Amino acid sequence: MTAALRLGIAGLGTVGAGVVKIVRRQAALLEARTGQRIEITAVSARDQSKDRGVNLSSYAWETDPVALAVRDDVDVFVELMGGSEGPAKLATEAALAAGKDVVTANKALLAIHGQALAEQAESAGRVIRYEAAVAGGIPVIKTLTEGLAGNEITRVMGVMNGTCNYILTRMESAGLGYNTVFDEAAALGYLEADPNLDVGGIDAGHKLAILSAIAFGTKPDFDGIEIEGIQNVTIEDIRQAADMGFRIKLLGVAQRSPRGLVQRMQPCLVPANSPLGQLEGGTNMVVIEGDAVEQVVLRGPGAGEGPTASAVLGDICDLARGLRIATFGQPAATLEDAPAASTGLPAPYYLRMALADKPGALAKVAAVLGEAGVSIDRMRQYSHDDATAPVLIVTHKTTRAALNQALDAMKTTDVVATVPVALRIEQV
Ligand SMILES: NC(=O)c1ccc[n+]([C@@H]2O[C@H](COP(=O)([O-])OP(=O)(O)OC[C@H]3O[C@@H](n4cnc5c(N)ncnc54)[C@H](OP(=O)(O)O)[C@@H]3O)[C@@H](O)[C@H]2O)c1
Repeated sequence: MTAALRLGIAGLGTVGAGVVKIVRRQAALLEARTGQRIEITAVSARDQSKDRGVNLSSYAWETDPVALAVRDDVDVFVELMGGSEGPAKLATEAALAAGKDVVTANKALLAIHGQALAEQAESAGRVIRYEAAVAGGIPVIKTLTEGLAGNEITRVMGVMNGTCNYILTRMESAGLGYNTVFDEAAALGYLEADPNLDVGGIDAGHKLAILSAIAFGTKPDFDGIEIEGIQNVTIEDIRQAADMGFRIKLLGVAQRSPRGLVQRMQPCLVPANSPLGQLEGGTNMVVIEGDAVEQVVLRGPGAGEGPTASAVLGDICDLARGLRIATFGQPAATLEDAPAASTGLPAPYYLRMALADKPGALAKVAAVLGEAGVSIDRMRQYSHDDATAPVLIVTHKTTRAALNQALDAMKTTDVVATVPVALRIEQV
């Protein structure tokens, strides 16, 4: 009889408890599919007395996740604690050093220490799998590393933080301001303990760093990502973007350009009728473009017990089946250092500003834009009952540098009454 694949699971929270439940509930199905029995031998968390909704009595308990990671009766160390430093990093390193394969859902760990861990895994002849780390239940890591391995990837984009997409779509549907919906999301338990990880774009940035490394054969470079959160998106922008046929999304984009690797995580306008534009609530979407396949759109639940545990089980089944792939889809030593692009690729921009209600104000703004080489595609002025007039402008493709030059010059005119809002329009 084939020996069982023995798991040691550190972290028994939302994801960890979900994994234990599937291993118990689906034992026969997992064995039938992989040809190997999958067993849990030991678990670890901080509080042994906590009820986790699943019977843990047949597993050894370790208070120290590092001790769990190096146990002789563990083949695969399953890291589901989280955090880029501390016990998650120490236990992962210890597991690899002790000759264990690793499965994790930890995007922060891989975005920040992915290169070093990939090198350690390869020199030890072990593998690290992390499907759950990016877009929860969506099998995007498998799609990029396996299904699309024959493509030169040209662009990867995604809405990969369900909380931000919930906030933006709820603001639009209920006509509420950012702060009100933020408080609602907090009350519903949708936000991380540090909400800036969500609304500041950091969590989604970690995911983009991972996808970008696989897509472009580069070392994961979280620090190279231009990150802007959704905190400054207003209900006015959401309404007015909608009026012009767009929706605002916290969109991650990674793309190779002649100027270097472009990696951006920021609020962008996308066409309302595009798949990304139609994405509602906490759902995630990843769009991958390759030279042969053209475009693949993946959509699904980005978080939660079932979807995330589903992704972890996919990785465990791969190991049981003997599927062993380099961490970022190619040997760690071959991953390039990709210099971050000094200037972004040109794009159309959405501008919103309030102009002083006096003759020639619009002409002055158009002239300032023209002097910086920014041409106007569409312009709309809204009715108003005070001394300033709301104006929306959609530009033709331009660089952010040219736009910034125009925005600086606008400050010296006497017609712009508010700091203009400028959002990139991503062509999807
Ligand atoms: N939740 C999701 O939907 C989701 C989606 C995708 C990826 N992920 C990732 O999955 C990982 C786990 O997330 P989660 O939502 O399951 O977190 P969680 O509910 O907060 O659970 C974390 C678990 O880790 C344990 N833990 C923390 N520090 C520990 C330590 N020093 N020693 C031993 N155990 C420790 C906790 O123990 P106690 O229970 O005793 O406190 C808890 O069981 C994270 O990397 C997260 O980013 C989560």
